[in-house]
Amino acid sequence: MSIPLLETRALSRHYPGGVRALDEVDLRIGKGEFVAIVGRSGSGKSTFLNIVGGLDAPSGGSVSIHGRMLDYSDRRALIAFRRQMVGFVFQQFNLIPSLTASENVEYPLLFNYRPPAERQEKARQLLAMVGLGDRASHYPGQLSGGEQQRVAIARALVADSPLILADEPTGNLDSQTSEGIFSLLQRLNRERQVTLLVVTHERELASYADRTVEMRDGRVVA
Ligand SMILES: Nc1ncnc2c1ncn2[C@@H]1O[C@H](COP(=O)(O)OP(=O)(O)O)[C@@H](O)[C@H]1O
Ligand SMILES: [Mg+2]
Repeated sequence: MSIPLLETRALSRHYPGGVRALDEVDLRIGKGEFVAIVGRSGSGKSTFLNIVGGLDAPSGGSVSIHGRMLDYSDRRALIAFRRQMVGFVFQQFNLIPSLTASENVEYPLLFNYRPPAERQEKARQLLAMVGLGDRASHYPGQLSGGEQQRVAIARALVADSPLILADEPTGNLDSQTSEGIFSLLQRLNRERQVTLLVVTHERELASYADRTVEMRDGRVVA
């Protein structure tokens, strides 16, 4: 691997009372990789994703993106990093209920000052790509869980962020819908070369990824 897209060194996150949510994690992820993170509840998966995505700060160690170390003490740089580099997908979808599917997908572009016509066209293309071309004007409440998660995936891609982080994206979905979401992620990874870091506790779903990383007690064990 040349310069990895993402590299962590001795990444740690401690909480008062001696909890080591992350304990010196070293991980390298290449551009265009689809990596599944598995491990029991409490093993540090969310903590890892949140720190890598700039939503939380480590107690020790470092995170580098394209060879550049993130500075967690620089709030503005961290916000810019999240907007430009990271797309998030959450277990609860986190769509804005008062906005249509299309408006939800466009939303991150409001902060990039793109003109409305460009935003709308981009949302249209992405919704078509996730198989929801005919649902653009539906509100989240009018969509199934699987459809809502597809909208959220389109939203995560809209700013062309090179890194997509998904924390248990199918945790609220039935197994057949979950397979559909993972096969969509796999297709997006192959067609758009986005780097995907996806937490799941289901082994069968992890098989859609190129590589599986297993966490236990805040450490990477495999
Ligand atoms: N805000 C917090 N305060 C104290 N302990 C926490 C906090 N957040 C997470 N932890 C602990 O850190 C460990 C890892 O949590 P988490 O990253 O959420 O695990 P996972 O996502 O794998 O289920 C757990 O032991 C959890 O209890
Ligand atoms: Mg978690």
